[in-house]
Amino acid sequence: MTTLRYPVLGLALLLAGCGHGNGQHEHDAAPVAAASTPAPAGTVAKAPASPAAFVPPADDAVPDSDFGKQVALGRKIFLDPDKYAAAYGGNHLSCANCHLDAGRLAHAAPLWGAWPMYPAYRGKNHRVNTFAERLQGCFRFSMNGKAPPAGDPVLVALESYAYWMSQGAPVGKALPGRGYPKLPKPALAPDYARGETVFKRDCAFCHGNDGQGQQVAGHVVFPPLWGPQSFNWGAGMHQLNNAAGFIKANMPLGRGGMLTDQDAWDVAYFMDAHERPQDPRFTGSIQATRAKYHNTPQSLYGTVVNGKLLGQGTAH
Ligand code: HEC
Ligand code: HEC
Repeated sequence: MTTLRYPVLGLALLLAGCGHGNGQHEHDAAPVAAASTPAPAGTVAKAPASPAAFVPPADDAVPDSDFGKQVALGRKIFLDPDKYAAAYGGNHLSCANCHLDAGRLAHAAPLWGAWPMYPAYRGKNHRVNTFAERLQGCFRFSMNGKAPPAGDPVLVALESYAYWMSQGAPVGKALPGRGYPKLPKPALAPDYARGETVFKRDCAFCHGNDGQGQQVAGHVVFPPLWGPQSFNWGAGMHQLNNAAGFIKANMPLGRGGMLTDQDAWDVAYFMDAHERPQDPRFTGSIQATRAKYHNTPQSLYGTVVNGKLLGQGTAH
């Protein structure tokens, strides 16, 4: 990863784009410790157009109890797994890089949208998954790390945080704002070259021309979108529909909803047509791994794009 190339401009742009007046700005909790300037990662993105039905409790409403301590620890892990769940990290992303505003933001897979929906059957592993197992999945794939074992203190803290944030939410009823929006199929099949144009115009400024993001003093300020420090080939974000929905609702950061659906699909395709760490379920053969785990048009794993066979993985 490179160092920050446009520190002043970048921060100014972010500040202009972020929802001020929303009392949830959280400079203390953002993962950039060294800079005295407000930290982009972890700041609040502007909510997309459609409102969420559910309002989670305020951060300062965490009870002063043993349970409250677990909630607070869970929130810290969510914002800075490098520091608070170091044993299980593989890259330097934080949960909040994809679950924005510390897991509170609607249309960015908020925790209050998730918790009440588990246990749930998942086609990914053909089993009914507990919430803890869902958390393990994000460690293994999105964080390209190791799943904390059942009952591990890291899982207990994250579960407590999600449970606390979901108080009052109906159980088993998908709330508006859960997950990432499902975009309608694009008019034109997603395209690498068009996606590259969108990337250069609307994304490279923060994520870098090479997609490797930017760091300040060893902390990720703008996360990488591909390459050895990104989510791996097994992660949800490598699927075009998840990426397009996330990007449409939330990117460019602070200006969610700005891209057309077509732009969102194209740039998701461009991002997901780059190499990233191998799927940890790799069977030894790209074609066999595709057949077993990636047999969907939403995955470019094992396909040839722009003259390159994808799914080879990256060296660390
Ligand atoms: C690279 C992006 C990324 C990172 C980093 C990431 N996740 Fe996720 N997460 C996703 C995607 C994509 C999904 C699937 C969303 C969907 O199905 O709508 C998901 C789903 C989830 C869900 C289930 C959501 C639901 O509504 O069912 C939970 C809980 C979760 N992640 C927790 C975490 C935790 C905890 C971490 C950090 C240890 C983390 N995630 C890191 C991208 C990420
Ligand atoms: C103003 C700076 C900025 C711009 C421009 C921007 N992003 Fe981001 N992006 C961020 C930040 C910061 C995060 C992490 C959010 C957080 O931690 O709150 C992020 C997170 C992401 C993530 C999830 C994390 C990961 O590593 O996968 C994806 C995917 C993403 N951006 C894609 C895009 C795309 C595609 C564009 C262009 C359409 C774009 N971004 C434009 C700042 C930006």
